[in-house]
Amino acid sequence: MRWSEINSSGSSVFNPKKITVVGAGHVGATAAFLAAKNELADIVLIDVIEGVPQGKALDMYESSPILRFDSAVIGTNDYADTANSDLVIITAGIARKPGMSRDDLLSINAGIIADVTRNIVSHSPDCIILVVTNPLDAMVYTALKVSGFPKHRVIGMAGVLDSARMRAFIADELKVSINNVNAFVLGGHGDTMVPLPRYSTVAGIPITELLSPERVDEICQRTADGGAEIVRLLKTGSAFYAPGASVVQMAEAIIRDNKRVLPCCAYLEGEYGVNGYYLGVPCKLGAGGLEAIIELDLTEQERAGLAKSMQAVAELVEQVDGFGLY
Ligand code: NAI
Ligand code: 2OP
Repeated sequence: MRWSEINSSGSSVFNPKKITVVGAGHVGATAAFLAAKNELADIVLIDVIEGVPQGKALDMYESSPILRFDSAVIGTNDYADTANSDLVIITAGIARKPGMSRDDLLSINAGIIADVTRNIVSHSPDCIILVVTNPLDAMVYTALKVSGFPKHRVIGMAGVLDSARMRAFIADELKVSINNVNAFVLGGHGDTMVPLPRYSTVAGIPITELLSPERVDEICQRTADGGAEIVRLLKTGSAFYAPGASVVQMAEAIIRDNKRVLPCCAYLEGEYGVNGYYLGVPCKLGAGGLEAIIELDLTEQERAGLAKSMQAVAELVEQVDGFGLY
């Protein structure tokens, strides 16, 4: 059977590339499905729960005759099946439960990321890692430190999602096609993210020329609260369709060497006045991973917003540094 053909020797006859998705939960399964459907690569879905990645992968594969894709998809609990992956998307982790503090979540997910990263590195030493697990900016930092990979091969996903939300809200507000709308969000993935209205446009026209300052502020606030808005509605989990689509857009840029400019969570060494932390900034993605960081001239207000965001990330990173994981 074709779906069982990919294994440690590499990918199947159908695709030259191999993507592993770690965590077969909501985001991981959505990302695996979209990546398979878009024929980006053969897909390996791995989780600690027995049966779940296998069942979801088989279910995805059984949709291939209808959706007409030739990507192989397998589910597994064994890292040997992930060997020689070109790209690894990490979505493994737990969500915050009642009675659990943010710090509890931080230490549990940092431990999971460290464990997953060690396994990935030993089976796919040349891969590019895309981290999705929250708290994002600290988790991608953990993956960088544990992997020992260069910074261009360890990237986080948040800005594509945050700016997609902002784009959706702008299109809805102005009743224009989503195809005409671009938006940019910088900073950490959290309350302190920095939407940039003057770089957010409709057919090239900044939204600051199309909407009142009050409406622009409301859109920026809704963007910053975008994750919480979905959690309030779902009650038992967080967003996964837009996050899955977002990480697959980054995966596509890398696998197909698209050289797309997207907001990514990148390790900064002096850019934007930040040193030694991950933060969301505009980047060029291609076969080499994160191929360039684009520096914008920020206004004083934007710089202050980014500094506040960096402070929030730094506080989490200091805690992670104390966990003794690397
Ligand atoms: P989920 O709970 O549906 O899935 C998580 C999966 O990880 C589960 O299947 C679990 O069994 C698995 N897992 C736990 N420990 C593991 C390990 N050591 N190895 C392999 N798998 C393991 O959660 P969901 O909704 O998929 O979210 C995943 C993560 O992504 C969360 O941390 C969430 O906060 C984050 N997230 C981040 C976004 C971003 O913009 N960066 C957007 C959306 C979600
Ligand atoms: C989101 O923004 C939970 O980080 C996740 O939806």
